[in-house]
Amino acid sequence: MFPVSALLLGLAHLTTSKPLSSKCRDDFEVKHAWAEIPRGWTLHAPAPADYMFDMRIGLRQNRFDELVSALYEVSDPAHSRYGQHLSMEQVHELVAPHRDTVDLVEAWLAAHDLDSDSAQRSPAGEWITIRVSVAQAEMMLGNEYNIFRHGESEEYVIRAMNYSLPASLFGHVDLVAPTTYFGTMKSMRATSHINLNAPTINSDVNVASLLASASSLATVSSGCSSTITPTCLRALYNTASYVPQATDRNTLGVVGYLNEFANRVDLQTFFSRFRSDAVGSTFTTVLVNGGGDDQSTPGVEANLDIQYTEGISFPTPNIYYSTGGSPRFTPDGNTPTNTNEPYLDWLNFILASGKIPQTFTTSYGDDEQTVPEDYALQVCGLFARLGARGSSVMFSSGDNGVGGGNCLSNDGTKTKKFLPNFPASCPFVTTVGGTIGVSPEVAVSFSGGGFSNYFTQPTYQSAAVSTFLNSLGSKNSGLFNKTGRAYPDVAAQGENFQVVIGGSTTSVGGTSASSPTFAAVISLLNDFRLSQGKSPLGFLNPLIYSTGAAGFNDITSGSNPGCGTNGFTARAGWDPVTGLGTPDFLRLQALIG
Ligand SMILES: *[C@@H]1O[C@H](CO)[C@@H](O)[C@H](O)[C@H]1NC(C)=O
Ligand SMILES: *[C@@H]1O[C@H](CO)[C@@H](O)[C@H](O)[C@H]1NC(C)=O
Repeated sequence: MFPVSALLLGLAHLTTSKPLSSKCRDDFEVKHAWAEIPRGWTLHAPAPADYMFDMRIGLRQNRFDELVSALYEVSDPAHSRYGQHLSMEQVHELVAPHRDTVDLVEAWLAAHDLDSDSAQRSPAGEWITIRVSVAQAEMMLGNEYNIFRHGESEEYVIRAMNYSLPASLFGHVDLVAPTTYFGTMKSMRATSHINLNAPTINSDVNVASLLASASSLATVSSGCSSTITPTCLRALYNTASYVPQATDRNTLGVVGYLNEFANRVDLQTFFSRFRSDAVGSTFTTVLVNGGGDDQSTPGVEANLDIQYTEGISFPTPNIYYSTGGSPRFTPDGNTPTNTNEPYLDWLNFILASGKIPQTFTTSYGDDEQTVPEDYALQVCGLFARLGARGSSVMFSSGDNGVGGGNCLSNDGTKTKKFLPNFPASCPFVTTVGGTIGVSPEVAVSFSGGGFSNYFTQPTYQSAAVSTFLNSLGSKNSGLFNKTGRAYPDVAAQGENFQVVIGGSTTSVGGTSASSPTFAAVISLLNDFRLSQGKSPLGFLNPLIYSTGAAGFNDITSGSNPGCGTNGFTARAGWDPVTGLGTPDFLRLQALIG
């Protein structure tokens, strides 16, 4: 490593006129600031000055715009590059920081007496992780770290109400974490709920005949209107006749957080009750960032996800990613902890792998306004990379309609507005809303839907969304952002799912059920593409809003109330309740062939 002085001399050609070590705060610019302590958290105490933690610095990715252009080209069925997904190395080239950016950040570290040789760097160099003390971090970021406590729980984190960067670094550093993102394992939300009084069944032989002919549910009402099983979904979405051919190459990934463990015995029980031909097949568990696999505590979310991805995609290999976030901060110890940033931890793990599943589903989310904008942009950009690599990434749209609770803004003004969900609002993922009933299939009232305040509306959806907005007129005007990325993109059943938990069948609902269901259908389409010697579908949205739209069952009734309003109403064409509708495998197969 060069001595600091040499580095600073080397930087003379850059636009920095002020020394990077400036400890005077007027040269700082605010990167992100909360107006109020995030809901659910209370200020506990100042962070000890000598407390050590890993600071993650996200460097500006020099050719990120090119990555996004490449993503759109390889995902657009009308483009000559369609299906020519990027390798990990090609993505790394596009996200690597400029040399000047690296030099400036290294000089900044050195000016704060940090040994940059001790830092860890991501393969492309756009993340630098370095151990710092609270006192050092506060000098670097012109802020104050405190210990915050989540609710009445014993979860404590070290976070800041805001952070700043020296002006000369502002265009070179996209994100520093942990700073103002308070979303952690306890506050992320799994989008599922148990229905204690709903009917449950331990056998669905009465509907097995549905598998015999295509689309029978469209005309025949049946037990599937009160209890959903893989048989119902395979019939409803027309996958029953398809036999996977590419199971040596095709995989489906289920991403789990919050110490949710997918139980292998429950899966066998589920198969014996609802998918007997799959008995004996299982899934692989991959532990990320200290995630666990405690088979004595089956998770509702994890079991729902894996039972339905497997129940529909069998015999496609499924992988369950158990993402950890511990050890967490304990206020009476001074043990270093990791950064406990679940999305970043999982994304950085998966993106460092050469071979990744073609399809992913994740059933977690938070109100977008609780995620700092710089953090959301960064995480969303990482999803763009998964798409560029050729993976289809599904997220549940949320379970609060247009917003839960009183829907007040957290910008200090407490204005009532709809509360979009993140990552559902990221334009580079495919967001799945919920439906209920079989003849007809209608929007389920909790189906999350709306418009982002962070991400502008991507071109792929502008025609579909403007048709909807024209028909909406002035309804809900002022409560949502007409220029934002609109979601969900698609929908699938979201209520009355029969899930085996600890040996008993339980009725579970939520868009947590919709996302794995939709992902399993996409996984079968990926199997079909691979079996034809073609590339996987990759990022789906440019396809499904264009030539693929004809492969969906348009859902035209139901609504998603919230925030004390009736929310939006499903209608012909795209709507922010059920998107383009629910998938019809056979029609989609014909369209993508
Ligand atoms: C940053 O947070 C501190 C409290 O930690 C507060 O005193 C200061 O005014 C905040 N600055 C901004 C720009 O919000
Ligand atoms: C509306 O969304 C755009 C992005 O499309 C954003 O720039 C703008 O700040 C948002 N407006 C509000 C009031 O959040």
